[in-house]
Amino acid sequence: MIITTDILPTEVARAVKEGFAKIPKRLPSWLFYDEAGDKIFQAIMRMPEYYLTPCEYEILQANKDKLYQRFTTDGSAFDLIELGAGDGLKTEILLRHFQSKEAAFRYLPVDVSSTALSSLTHRLADIFPKLAIQPVNKQYNEAIRTLYEEDLNRKVFLFLGANIGNFQVHEAENFVTMIASGMHPDDQLLIGFDLKKDPRLVQAAYDDPHGITRNFNMNLLIRLNRELGAQFQLDQFRHYPYYDPESGMTKSYLVSLRAQDVYIEAFQSAIHFDRWEVIHTEVSQKYDIPMIEKIASVSGLEITDVLYDCKHYFCDVLFKKKNG
Ligand code: AVI
Repeated sequence: MIITTDILPTEVARAVKEGFAKIPKRLPSWLFYDEAGDKIFQAIMRMPEYYLTPCEYEILQANKDKLYQRFTTDGSAFDLIELGAGDGLKTEILLRHFQSKEAAFRYLPVDVSSTALSSLTHRLADIFPKLAIQPVNKQYNEAIRTLYEEDLNRKVFLFLGANIGNFQVHEAENFVTMIASGMHPDDQLLIGFDLKKDPRLVQAAYDDPHGITRNFNMNLLIRLNRELGAQFQLDQFRHYPYYDPESGMTKSYLVSLRAQDVYIEAFQSAIHFDRWEVIHTEVSQKYDIPMIEKIASVSGLEITDVLYDCKHYFCDVLFKKKNG
């Protein structure tokens, strides 16, 4: 059964209206993930410049048994809840290993994209016919609220792929605090953090020479044209990503190449852009260990394991509720 609440056109309209009223103008990053955006993101993950995905693969492959031991310490059944499951390819490593050990668990992938979620569910059902899968097609907060209300099994949350980086640091702290507030002492949370590193490597991951990340950003305008009857001319905007090694924040923008008024049918009005005005489309925050320790301390969690790839570009961090 899919618990479903597809993103409604009215929600897209509301988010865009709110975002364009801000200074600078903003679009929320969940808007990236329509059918075309899901496909472009798959292509991003296959780019040689996008080091994040192979690094996390390596970590999960090398630590699948350690994680199995951690998740099954008391032998009770658990719910493996994956926030932002996407194509689930990385998680497959864990699912395969846990199944081979006959661990008692259900897999609950949570994703805002119904297309990504249903193709993931079908693919996993083919590969793992015995796996109990319960997809949840909701935004994270709502999904977590619903799951805490049900409160059936012990919970292991996965928040992989540096998805946490798409929050600003204070938002990440609030989000983890929200998850932690419903956690029991035997629940666990595994988060994938992209780490600060050579700034040129980070910059290249978001400013690839193939133009794939550019297309990912431009697809936002295509989506607004299709879903809101907007009249964005794609050649009048340019994608510009910028990594600040001091804060660890990568910001992505769409920059207006001229002064222009873009009519949006859903609003029955036009939005004005000055020349060189930006639309801020995404944050991809890079972390260091003190920043991760701060997340743990503000949210009432403690770190049980920090798992790195061999280059220390990325880490998966396991948290549990702090005692006392
Ligand atoms: C999904 N998220 C972790 C990606 C990231 O690295 O921020 C999305 C992305 N944006 C541009 N490239 C990849």
